[in-house]
Amino acid sequence: MSIQSPGLFIAFEGGDGAGKSTQASRLFDALESRGIQVLRTREPGGTPIGEKLRSLVLDHGHGTIDARTEALMFAAARAAHASQVIRPALAAGTIVITDRYIDSSVAYQGAGRGLGTGDVRSLNEWATEGLLPDLTVLLDVEPSDGRQRRTAGEATEDRLESEPDDFHSAIRRAFLDLAEASPSSYLVLPAALEIEELAARILERVEALLGGRVRR
Ligand code: TYD
Repeated sequence: MSIQSPGLFIAFEGGDGAGKSTQASRLFDALESRGIQVLRTREPGGTPIGEKLRSLVLDHGHGTIDARTEALMFAAARAAHASQVIRPALAAGTIVITDRYIDSSVAYQGAGRGLGTGDVRSLNEWATEGLLPDLTVLLDVEPSDGRQRRTAGEATEDRLESEPDDFHSAIRRAFLDLAEASPSSYLVLPAALEIEELAARILERVEALLGGRVRR
């Protein structure tokens, strides 16, 4: 009996206000309580340089950031994250759960900002040396629901969140297109489902993946 490859890489994706952080943390807790080695991380961020880039690119007050600069900042943060955090953890056999990854750039910068999904994907595959998730959980949220959910508890929205609903509709479509293009690597769930039901369905899929990795 041998393990096909060490670690398992899971990304949570979706529009703002989809509830990714809640579900990433539920999955982390469920796996950890089973004694599985698991790491939870997020983008932009995950490394000291990534956290600095996060505040530069998300906070208001740094003047105009043009679309290409924005795409390169997310890609730079991701390059550091992939090489310094995700790859070493996977090599050590850890399950890595990230809140956002390449699909966020393809959707927000490629579709939302109009840079083109193909170019943004190529840039990010170069930045990460082709490191792709084993599973992407896409929480599909209606832009108006997302806005309502994210502003319910917080007074302010970041630079990207405060874009209008049609920007968020383009992003939603781009995420769904990515999932439709590779259905076996995606689990797409409506973000409006109950938290408990979402958590159960995500865990079921991850357990199936973990089971399937052990080969005779
Ligand atoms: P996120 O951390 O999910 O927001 P929060 O923690 O405030 O809920 O993401 C921050 C914002 O950055 C979000 O609007 C999506 C955007 N983003 C991109 O535009 N491109 C990217 O590659 C990533 C990772 C995020």
